[in-house]
Amino acid sequence: MNEIRPIEWANGTLRLLDQTRLPAEEVNIELHGYLEAVNAIKTMQVRGAPAIGVTAAYAVAMAARDIDTTDKPTFMRKLTEAGGIIKAARPTAVNLMWAVDRMIAIADTEPDTPSIKSRLLSEAIAMEKEDEVINRRMGVNGKDLIPDGGSVLTHCNAGALATAAFGTAVGVIRANWEDGKRFNVFNTETRPFLQGARLTAWEFKKLGIPSTLVVDSAAGMLMKRGEIGCVITGADRIAANGDTANKIGTYGLAVLAKENGIPFYVAAPISTVDISLSNGDQIEIEERSSNEITEFRGVPIAPDGVEAFNPGFDVTPAKYLSAIITEAGIIRPPFNKNLNSAVNSDV
Ligand code: MRU
Repeated sequence: MNEIRPIEWANGTLRLLDQTRLPAEEVNIELHGYLEAVNAIKTMQVRGAPAIGVTAAYAVAMAARDIDTTDKPTFMRKLTEAGGIIKAARPTAVNLMWAVDRMIAIADTEPDTPSIKSRLLSEAIAMEKEDEVINRRMGVNGKDLIPDGGSVLTHCNAGALATAAFGTAVGVIRANWEDGKRFNVFNTETRPFLQGARLTAWEFKKLGIPSTLVVDSAAGMLMKRGEIGCVITGADRIAANGDTANKIGTYGLAVLAKENGIPFYVAAPISTVDISLSNGDQIEIEERSSNEITEFRGVPIAPDGVEAFNPGFDVTPAKYLSAIITEAGIIRPPFNKNLNSAVNSDV
């Protein structure tokens, strides 16, 4: 199968599959410096927590490459400044901050600036490869979650496009499918940015997995009719107690799932767990432009000047999660204890 790889390093440039142009066009953009990478994250040409993390790692490597001093303290000061700008691109997905912190910590261990530059590039390449390995491991860990003849609903896009390759929630669905089981797949359109309609439906088509696209608000009636066997989503940040930030609408799906006795799973790498936050109230939620809901592709769909509120994410309290699928295994409640041991274990 032709794997979807949205992020590639080639000949000193970072190539991204422009996710704002999908599904109509498959266009790659080439980024030559770290500020271009910051812009691609802000404009969501690349999006999804792990993909943002890998892009940020390449951004740090590009920033280092372009720093013009051999004095290590000056170099580190400039690199840390660039790291701050990269981290500020989007607030919710912790993989962004995690990747920048990991890169800067590694830079500090190198003796001189030429070795920092080459080490950071190899580290970014390693993080890209590592992300695919982690996602495939998550797929293996979650491959018994969807029964043959069952059904699954996913929200937003937590597929290959949201990662270096393979995906998290979509990766688990794919692993179940490749295991030979057959089941119905539903994916929400994911208003207002339409990651589900534009990106997840596109991925399922490429994978040859039949899927049915539904409006976000159809989830409740489908669940009530017994058509959804389980829900699997990704995550942007998971607090120490298991409270999970993910695309706006996830919380509603989780409450509906509980009400209808349906298991609700989150698939995410351990790098998405932010053990420094005791609960989800402390997670910063990105607020996006109101134009995303008052317009569609530049055409007004609401009265001129109407007040609109557009949070990009919500937080699902841990009590609604049946389990969190990670590369370290399936983590079940009590999340406080079990997430903590997974974060501290060497996978
Ligand atoms: O705003 P986005 O498209 O970056 O939001 C993405 C999500 O909410 C995903 O579910 C999450 O990042 C997990 S991706 C594997």
